[in-house]
Amino acid sequence: MTNREDILTLLRSSRTGYVSGAELAGALGVSRTAVWKHIRALAGDGYEIEAVPSKGYRLRSAPDLIRAADLRKALTGALFGAAVDYHRSLLSTNTRAMNLAQEGAPEGTVVLAEVQTGGKGRLGRTWASPPGNIHLSVVLRPPLPLHRAALVTLASAVAAATAIREATGLTAGIKWPNDILIQGRKVAGILTEMSAEADRIRHLVLGIGVNVNADLSGLPAEVQDRSITLAAAAGRTLDRTDVLIILLRLMEGWYHRFQISPAEVIQAWKSLNATLGRRIAVNGPGGTKQGIAEDITEEGLLVLRDDSGRVHTVASGDVTIEKT
Ligand code: BTN
Repeated sequence: MTNREDILTLLRSSRTGYVSGAELAGALGVSRTAVWKHIRALAGDGYEIEAVPSKGYRLRSAPDLIRAADLRKALTGALFGAAVDYHRSLLSTNTRAMNLAQEGAPEGTVVLAEVQTGGKGRLGRTWASPPGNIHLSVVLRPPLPLHRAALVTLASAVAAATAIREATGLTAGIKWPNDILIQGRKVAGILTEMSAEADRIRHLVLGIGVNVNADLSGLPAEVQDRSITLAAAAGRTLDRTDVLIILLRLMEGWYHRFQISPAEVIQAWKSLNATLGRRIAVNGPGGTKQGIAEDITEEGLLVLRDDSGRVHTVASGDVTIEKT
């Protein structure tokens, strides 16, 4: 934990609200001047901290930022969150997590950023990453052959849809392969990147972006039209730290379950899906196919029956669900 996170934790847990400079200096093992410098830096970050002579410092208000210290504490002993690498701004949490994985970061390392300046989406797209949303990547080292990798992503889509339901009470569904929708609009997306050798996964990074509290009005109109935030759907601002704790716990649970019983992931995915039985168009590497989404295979591929009755198995692509 950084000194600043320590100061915030101490201020938040004070019974009277106040903590003296001497107490903070003692608890952190630094000088009172160093404490003062941290307080000034926190004020620069948007924290309102009052200083009352003879009483000490009191936290009046905090900006909407992820509380990395609380997250670490809540995830103590867990695999997902064993290390938390938190940033105010990053190019992409996935890029950072892939680099950390390459350097040997342990499985379960979590990378978080308040904003991303080069957020990546599926199929080479960009992912708008404004403040107020969740931008999360997790380093994994599943002992699996390559052809099972798609299932890890489906398992995390199950975790994300379930976490949203648990955190907000809203009904979230999954559009194949791993877009999370509320009221037909995208609330979260998942991008998996990996490094493999022969037929073995060396490491894999699961990147999840969740639209939580951000103001989307600055985004291009076509992105706004197909997107929704949890706050807009729930009618209230959400605590992103709480959402992250729920999400990471569920991701870990589904990651373990998937290794023991992949069929359970497929079953859960199907029960949450918003694609099967619907008329869809899939835009993939081989062009666009239209028809009814019939099923997913045990490896997570989409089974589509076109209008001539031919059945296609689709490994990747972008699905548009036709309105009924
Ligand atoms: C999609 O296109 O639906 C996938 C979007 C994935 C976005 C997340 S945000 C955190 C992580 N870092 C990135 O650059 N992308 C993923």
